[in-house]
Amino acid sequence: MDVWKNSKLQLQDSKKNIFSNFQLNIFYKIYIIFEIYNSEKDMFKIIKKEVLSSVIKSFEIEAPDIAKNIKPGQFIVLRLHEKGERFPLTVAGKNLEKGTIKIIFQTVGKSTTELGNLKEGDFIRDIVGPLGKPTEIENFGTVVAMAGGVGTAELLPVISDLLKAGNKVITIVGARNKDLLLLQDELKANSTELLTATDDGSYGIKGFVTNVLADVIKREKVNIVYAIGPVPMMKAVSNMTREYNLKTLVSLNPIMVDGTGMCGACRVSVDKKIRFACVDGPEFDGHLVDWDELTSRLRAFKENEKVALEKYKEILNMECKCHKE
Ligand code: FAD
Ligand code: FES
Ligand code: MG
Repeated sequence: MDVWKNSKLQLQDSKKNIFSNFQLNIFYKIYIIFEIYNSEKDMFKIIKKEVLSSVIKSFEIEAPDIAKNIKPGQFIVLRLHEKGERFPLTVAGKNLEKGTIKIIFQTVGKSTTELGNLKEGDFIRDIVGPLGKPTEIENFGTVVAMAGGVGTAELLPVISDLLKAGNKVITIVGARNKDLLLLQDELKANSTELLTATDDGSYGIKGFVTNVLADVIKREKVNIVYAIGPVPMMKAVSNMTREYNLKTLVSLNPIMVDGTGMCGACRVSVDKKIRFACVDGPEFDGHLVDWDELTSRLRAFKENEKVALEKYKEILNMECKCHKE
């Protein structure tokens, strides 16, 4: 744009004065509109925003190529702007006619808070995907599909395909309380049976998803368990099913940066071998995962993450004050 400004000035200065100031201003405005159009063309527009709870939001984003190719279990890596960090989110749904994908995310730190502050019509700088291996969908028989917290959104496309493949799908979801429960109607529509637990008993069964799983295992023959959610929940489920020798797949969520197997950030140990969750996973046999290593690697940047969020909030506060003045 500087090049254009300079040439505009040069043309004005020149004795030839081919164009009037009015004409130059028109050319300049057309150029700016073209520049904005060109930069937005490569970005990803937020078509719809929904606030699902105090900490969980859902966006529908225009991304036709990703919508066409994404499969259940796969994820994307986002970068909100030139200086933003890269972070992964699972694609919770897609609309092929509209060419859109749906993400559902919990605001936990700087990047997810910044993402949650975007509005309908705003743009996301980069989205890379589909990444990771899709969930292997086959007719296993009876599947127990479990999710905790925002993992519920990631579970939805998986159970939808498992049901279509002819499985009996018993879905167990849990949250701390009723306000944090997600997508109950959609889960019900895509499960043979839906069991909901809350830690405080404000909705459904009082207790943890593992208590509900124990009852189901006692009640009937289960062929496979699929779990997605916070690490302590997936670890507890895997420890329980190990006793029954019940195959358990978990979707791991280590820190990811490039999402293509090059940076090494998402290293996990499975069956004492090094695996990169972004390309070898994110799904693994829960009985073989080194949970303690994963827990400690997830905590590695806690201090920096806290500082980044505090700084972001300070900037937001300053902007709010400036707007009021
Ligand atoms: P920060 O304050 O930077 O971090 C908070 C915590 O989030 C960290 O302590 C760490 O445990 C984790 N985290 C931080 N950076 C990353 C990173 N680059 N990659 C992975 N974890 C990180 N969350 C959702 O709400 N919805 C989803 O659909 C979803 N899907 C995911 C799919 C995959 C394959 C993975 C690996 C993670 C997924 N997550 C999802 C988690 C999400 O990526 C993190 O919550 C997010 O990166 C946190 O960023 P932040 O800057 O807001 O928080
Ligand atoms: Fe870089 Fe997996 S995120 S190797
Ligand atoms: Mg972060």
